Amino acid sequence: MSRDAQGGGVLLAGGTVIDILGERRVDVRISGGAIAEVGERLDAADDEVIDVSTMVIAPGFVDLHTHLREPGMTEAETIETGSRAAALGGYTAVVAMPNTDPTQDCVSVVDFVRAEGRRAGLCDVHPSASITVGRAGERLVPFAELAAAGVRIFTDDGSGVQDDGLMRRALEYAGELGLTLAQHCEVSSLTAGAVMHEGECCSHLGLPGWPALAEELMVHRDIELVRLTGSPVHLLHLSTARSVELVRAAKADGLPVTAEATPHHISLTDERLRGFDPLFKVNPPLRTIRDVEEVRRGLIDGTIDAIATDHAPHPGHAKERPLDSAPPGMLGLETAFGVARAHLDLPLRDLIALLSWRPAAIAGLGHLHGRPVEVGEPANLTVLDPSVEWTVDPDALASRSSNTPYRDVPLVGRPRHTFLHGDAVVRDGVATR
Ligand code: DOR
Repeated sequence: MSRDAQGGGVLLAGGTVIDILGERRVDVRISGGAIAEVGERLDAADDEVIDVSTMVIAPGFVDLHTHLREPGMTEAETIETGSRAAALGGYTAVVAMPNTDPTQDCVSVVDFVRAEGRRAGLCDVHPSASITVGRAGERLVPFAELAAAGVRIFTDDGSGVQDDGLMRRALEYAGELGLTLAQHCEVSSLTAGAVMHEGECCSHLGLPGWPALAEELMVHRDIELVRLTGSPVHLLHLSTARSVELVRAAKADGLPVTAEATPHHISLTDERLRGFDPLFKVNPPLRTIRDVEEVRRGLIDGTIDAIATDHAPHPGHAKERPLDSAPPGMLGLETAFGVARAHLDLPLRDLIALLSWRPAAIAGLGHLHGRPVEVGEPANLTVLDPSVEWTVDPDALASRSSNTPYRDVPLVGRPRHTFLHGDAVVRDGVATR
């Protein structure tokens, strides 16, 4: 419950604000779900005072790519447990991926996801919808109906739309309606049976390989379809050097192409598969150090617009299967900030941009999230402790699953408090609901 209900608001005292406007040392008063006052040494009146003098107050993070697994796969995650993980990771909004069971391909399922998100009340849950019915790649979903129900991002994530003509038509419809299609770039005929990145390490291990080309061909096709249709596309979880190069060229041509990269694709390489551990199996797969370096470079020079987690919970028994039958995916929400910080040579403000206002704009949430910390703005904030040292303990994560690839990894920096519409949903690193 917000403090307002009891009378006073909350005063964040002595912190450093970092937002789209820059960096400044000010107090921030939160009241009535909004930022009520910003200034030096504000009077506490009957506010609760939180000393944030060693911390950074930033707009909450926005994840463009979260698998909440509900409906249908609640053994792995629920909307509530996933939202809690998000809040603890500093996120005030997530885009929920549609590869649920049933698929988020119609208004009733999308409404359910949004309503469950509201009920949990830990972060704003914005359901995406699939591009094709049942993500089967054959028939388009009713875009206009789903748009009227508030969906802005459409994706068949988990797989890419294979049919060129269908993707062209989807882009034409989406463009007319002001929607964004997000593509999981993978030509499936090139990845059938694949387990890990196709390269030296894979040949050495004798495992079926997942060529970089499977991603790059679809990146290329979609860029050309954007050129043809003029409709925007967002490219999900880019993982190869050549994909980054293709997006760089598309942007130089002025095409409406945006892209994201995950914390794991900038921190881990295919060498991790040498132990045959399914915790390191992910789609797209972990690539070579050269790819990792180019994806980092893409984030640093603005070619890649956002960091997105691809938070993909899977129950323990599924990830304990042999590598070839274990499902791909890893947790991301609770570790994204610390991992990205350790692997991107960027000023904190640029890192926060990649996690907050840039993805907010892509998701069409720029009116609510990633906002400047100014009077009258919605109080969707994260307070970051940039220097706290901590070690990832899979069992201590809020996610219902524990398939993090960062077990026992020491990280520096962690969200300490998260405010959602003025409510402290995380206080001192603990979820309040
Ligand atoms: O590794 C992945 N896991 N990549 C995807 O695209 C889907 C996701 C999942 O749903 O588990």
